[in-house]
Amino acid sequence: MIYENVLETLGDTPIVRLRKLLPEPQDRICVKLEGTNPSGSIKDRAALHMVEEAERHGRLTPGSTLVESTSGNLGKSLALIGAVKGYRVILVVDPKTPQSVLSYATSFGAELDMVDRPDGNGSYQVARIRRVEELLAQNPEARSLDQYNNPDNPQAHALHTAPEIAKDFDDLAALVGTVSTGGHLSGLSSALREHFPSLHVRAVDAVGSATFGHPFAPYMMRGIGLSWRPGNLRTDLIDSLHRVADTEALSTCRVLAREEGLLLGESGGAAVFAALAYATAHPGRPVLAIAPDTGANYLYESYDDAWLAEHGVPVDVLWHTSHDLLRHARTPLYPPAAQPSDPQGTERMIEGARA
Ligand SMILES: Cc1ncc(COP(=O)(O)O)c(C=O)c1O
Repeated sequence: MIYENVLETLGDTPIVRLRKLLPEPQDRICVKLEGTNPSGSIKDRAALHMVEEAERHGRLTPGSTLVESTSGNLGKSLALIGAVKGYRVILVVDPKTPQSVLSYATSFGAELDMVDRPDGNGSYQVARIRRVEELLAQNPEARSLDQYNNPDNPQAHALHTAPEIAKDFDDLAALVGTVSTGGHLSGLSSALREHFPSLHVRAVDAVGSATFGHPFAPYMMRGIGLSWRPGNLRTDLIDSLHRVADTEALSTCRVLAREEGLLLGESGGAAVFAALAYATAHPGRPVLAIAPDTGANYLYESYDDAWLAEHGVPVDVLWHTSHDLLRHARTPLYPPAAQPSDPQGTERMIEGARA
């Protein structure tokens, strides 16, 4: 197949069944590998759809400037899209952004604007958004896609990702996916419930994230969680919440690489850990975990023992065998909750983020 440009290679990502890392031999746990998208993550889908809808409505025209806050993957997607379509791209990043992501973006000609002061709670997310607002005020011609509230973000998944899943499963008991903007889980949940009316949708958040109303505390995983609740998160389309700790996700990443030959990003590790926990309670039911990106993004960081130790996670606190990992998945550190908790607390966080 010959494509007209690299963006046309987006989507149709593979779904791979776990063979060894299973609580019971009859379990059916699959992982959708979004790291095979052209810039290496699920964000290519949302980014391209948001850009194309903005073009269709005349909000972006050839030569426009895009300004965006990103912890990594959206920036890579926009840098690639900017190169193919001819947009100037300015990415507001922070010191947690992996060097590999920064180098990837600049290779495509994107410009970086580094926020160096964290918010009061130790996160950089609110600081990045404020910086985007400043840059937009300084450049009236520039545009932001606002992935946190833009309905074209979840729509990309309802229109394109969900049909890929629906065609591969006769029956699907549970969809397990991580949340940052809420884009992929909200979009998938809305569309897949039509195909699988009894589908259970389990959201996965980072312990430390405030998305579901818990107090914010810094954590290591990238791409997952926020210090406020995004507009694109549809809690009414979520049945349960599993808050996964850094050690649980990082251990899962390492065991998956050695046992299954799957090199996933940290949030993919969190999603698979939550899928294992779901499967232990629902043996034999088909479960799909979404792995948003590839571990190639983190080879010199969370896959590197020395880097991990320097960042407060000595490798001996992780579990290294399927046996140990599955034992922990049966009794996770933070047991899944039936409902996303404390909606009033969530509202308070939103107000805090806006203040
Ligand atoms: C690595 C990673 N994991 C999880 C997510 C969460 O995806 P969403 O923003 O669709 O909630 C993202 C989003 O950028 C990501 O890059």
